[in-house]
Amino acid sequence: MSQKEHIILAIESSCDDTSAAILKNESILSNLIAGQDIHRLYGGVVPELASRAHLQNILPVVDAAIEKAGVQLSDIDAVAFTKGPGLLGSLVVGTSFAKSLSLALNIPLIDVNHMYGHVLAHFIDDDEEEMKCSDWVLTDGPIKKKKPKFPFICLTVSGGHTQVVLVKSHLDMEIIGATKDDAAGEAFDKAAKMLGFEYPGGPSVDKHAKDGDPLKFKFTRPKVGGYDFSFSGLKTGILYFLQKEVKANPNFIKENLNDLCASIQFTIVDILIRQLKTVTKDLGIKEVAIAGGVSANSGLRKALQETGANKGWNVYIPRFEYCTDNAAMIAITGKFMYEKGLFADQTVTAAARVPFAR
Ligand code: KG4
Ligand code: ZN
Repeated sequence: MSQKEHIILAIESSCDDTSAAILKNESILSNLIAGQDIHRLYGGVVPELASRAHLQNILPVVDAAIEKAGVQLSDIDAVAFTKGPGLLGSLVVGTSFAKSLSLALNIPLIDVNHMYGHVLAHFIDDDEEEMKCSDWVLTDGPIKKKKPKFPFICLTVSGGHTQVVLVKSHLDMEIIGATKDDAAGEAFDKAAKMLGFEYPGGPSVDKHAKDGDPLKFKFTRPKVGGYDFSFSGLKTGILYFLQKEVKANPNFIKENLNDLCASIQFTIVDILIRQLKTVTKDLGIKEVAIAGGVSANSGLRKALQETGANKGWNVYIPRFEYCTDNAAMIAITGKFMYEKGLFADQTVTAAARVPFAR
């Protein structure tokens, strides 16, 4: 099989989603995700429950991904998996499964950094579904989504991370800004919890924000240096504000839910976009991407498009299914590592924290 034709099975199990994907060259043949509703009852991910659910889900999810892709086990050239960062008990399940499969099939094993996966999701070949969008270009073959050109800036915003990444090539990236405390997704989820939404509340805030006034309530922006972020002050600010208002009117949240969601979302998005403006100006880079679960947020997607149009940036926004955790992004990262022969051996272990630079 030539270097251009390879099939990679990828496994992602860093948090509370068990996902398996099959990638052929740069096209995704299948990308299946088993979520874990159990955590909703507890207001956050319970690590022990997450690893148990991964154990139950991993075999059926991998089987289904292989079946949906229409490939045989013997067609698979390599198995990629998320080594970290993430919840150790969750990562161990995917790592052990991938190691066993690699041993049984005698194929290379590729240990992927989850955060690289979020960024490199932009390099997945997409189908023609959304071809009317201006981000899609005609190539020699089918219509394809444009991919970022190096160097580009990627704002990776998820439940666990908020990073400004300078992406110099597929496997050469540098974090030039990060959160000092809570991640942007955490800010959404914690605010959502205060408003009475189930975990993870980010999508609920997004939904209600659509019918609210983003300028109704003002929350203070953090003062942090460089390209860093801070969201813990905002969280406390929202808490004190709600406590005060609810004391005066117990129905305050119910009566103002949409406006509260819109104002909170507007503030978080504004904090993110302001830093992006500073970074791109300082570095003179006009290729700007977003990634991670919070890149599914409609306010952020819209603000990036508007700011991009205003500043002359080329902006790159992932398809919804590649924003939150998924194995397709691990597969595409695995592909770039496969081409460079960057393989792990059977001594590899899962790690809750992994160095960012390769
Ligand atoms: O990348 P991800 O799936 O998992 C991590 O690696 O953390 O991100 C999950 C985060 C959660 O905090 C969730 O609330 C947030 O992404 N999220 C959203 C939206 N969709 C997911 N936040 C705001 N608006 C959304 N539409
Ligand atoms: Zn993630």
